[in-house]
Amino acid sequence: MAIKFLNLKKIHLEISSDLHKAFERVLESGQYILGQEVENFEYEFARFCEVKYCIGVGNGLEALALLLRAYGIGPGDEVIVPSNTFVATWLAVSHSGAQVVPVEPCQDTYNLNPDAIEASITTKTAAIIPVHLYGQTADMNAINKIAQRHHLLIIEDAAQAQGSKYHGRQAGSLGDAAATSFYPGKNIGALGDAGAVLF
Ligand SMILES: Cc1ncc(COP(=O)(O)O)c(C=O)c1O
Repeated sequence: MAIKFLNLKKIHLEISSDLHKAFERVLESGQYILGQEVENFEYEFARFCEVKYCIGVGNGLEALALLLRAYGIGPGDEVIVPSNTFVATWLAVSHSGAQVVPVEPCQDTYNLNPDAIEASITTKTAAIIPVHLYGQTADMNAINKIAQRHHLLIIEDAAQAQGSKYHGRQAGSLGDAAATSFYPGKNIGALGDAGAVLF
């Protein structure tokens, strides 16, 4: 028997009756954009991530782009990102008009290497976007210390890290704000595109 590389249907079959109940609620409510269901999810996901607020958005790229815009990051700024992240992290920065500044990862975790960050900081650096990859968070204590020293924002890209913990704290609660993705293949995958901003 051939084993499928990715079987999203199988994952959802396990919770099929809950999903059908939710579809029914939405259908009956007549509210097909935002509404109580989204509000409930935002509230519960904020609690799960140990942050004050969660705002649902279209996808993870949009969450990153909106955060950069909200912090006024744009042309003339530089943003430090891991050189080995998924392309959406870079795209959010280039979309803002700021310059992407790639920094190499640690060889044992493949997450942003704090020891390599300071050499890339200039007077134009506005933010660092650590991306938590492969189920483990970046070394946030070290990265936050660098950010404090240089007055930089930390925007976490927690798209691949829902439920990951760093010294007992949830990914998404470890910087100034975070973006996450509910792309169907993610830890918490939606039936479609979705994302959230956390702060
Ligand atoms: C690390 C990372 N950042 C951002 C994104 C963008 O999320 P989305 O596909 O929901 O736009 C993804 C996933 O696709 C990702 O893996």
